[in-house]
Amino acid sequence: MSCTVEIENLYIKLSDKVILEDINLKAEHGDFITILGPNGSGKTTILKTLMGFYKPYKGIIKICGEICTEKNILNCRNKLAYLPQNFEVDKFFPILTKDIIEFSLKEKYYKNEKALKIINEFNIQNLLDKPFGLLSGGEKQKTILAMILLREPVILLLDEPNLNLDFLAYKNFLKIVEKIYNQKKLTIFLITHLLSHISDLSKKVIVLKSGKIVFSGDKKEIFNKKDYLEFIYD
Ligand SMILES: Nc1ncnc2c1ncn2[C@@H]1O[C@H](COP(=O)(O)OP(=O)(O)OP(=O)(O)O)[C@@H](O)[C@H]1O
Ligand SMILES: [Mg+2]
Repeated sequence: MSCTVEIENLYIKLSDKVILEDINLKAEHGDFITILGPNGSGKTTILKTLMGFYKPYKGIIKICGEICTEKNILNCRNKLAYLPQNFEVDKFFPILTKDIIEFSLKEKYYKNEKALKIINEFNIQNLLDKPFGLLSGGEKQKTILAMILLREPVILLLDEPNLNLDFLAYKNFLKIVEKIYNQKKLTIFLITHLLSHISDLSKKVIVLKSGKIVFSGDKKEIFNKKDYLEFIYD
C-alpha cells in the first residue's frame, strides 16, 4: 500500500501550554525521517499526535490521504506502529512474552510461521516463557517491536529506540529495522539523540526546537553545517 503522512499547520496545546506550533511536514511513502531536537522540544508529542493521543487545536493530519479525525482515528492508527519511548509494566502483571506476541496474531498462536520468523530475527526465543514484566528494558523493547511489526504496519514510529539498548543491541536493532525497511518499503520516523547512530538509509532530517521545526531537509545539509551540534542543541 502506498501511503503518505501529511501534517499541515498543526498546533498542539497541553495543559494550556502550546507544545507544537505550526508544524508542516510531508513524508512520501518509503521516506525514512530522523527527528532530532533537545529534550522537551516536542519530538515525542509529534509521534503521539500522529497516533491520535492528542487532538490538534489547529491544523490537520492526513494518513494515506485520509484526514484523521476523532471518528476515524482507529482507521488512521491501524496504519501506524508505535514504539514508545517509555513503557512500564508491573513486574507481577500476569502476562508472558509470548502472550504479547500473540496480541498481534489473528490465530493467537505464537508458533505460526510469521511469528517464528520474527522471533528468530529478534533472537527472543529464550524470553517467550518469561513474565513480560521481568524482562530488561531492551528485551521489552525488542518484544514490543516484534509485536507491532507482526501487524504489518505501513508506517513505523520509533521513539528513541536506543534508550534501553546497549551499543551492539542498538546496532542489531537498526539492522532489523533496515532489513524490514528494504523489504517492505515502510515509511519510518525515528527519534534519536545519537547523531552517530542515524541509519544510512535515513536521508531526511527534521530538527525541532521549542515546538517548532527549525530545519527540514537532507541529512548531508545539516552535517555540513560548521556548528551543527550547536545548531541542534543550542
Ligand atoms: N501531557 C502533557 N501535559 C503537559 N505538558 C506536556 C505533556 N506531555 C509533554 N508535555 C510537555 O511538552 C514538551 C514536549 O515534550 P516531548 O515529550 O514531546 O519532548 P521530547 O522532544 O520528546 O523530549 P525528550 O528528548 O526529553 O524525550 C515538554 O515541555 C513537556 O514537558
Ligand atoms: Mg521524547
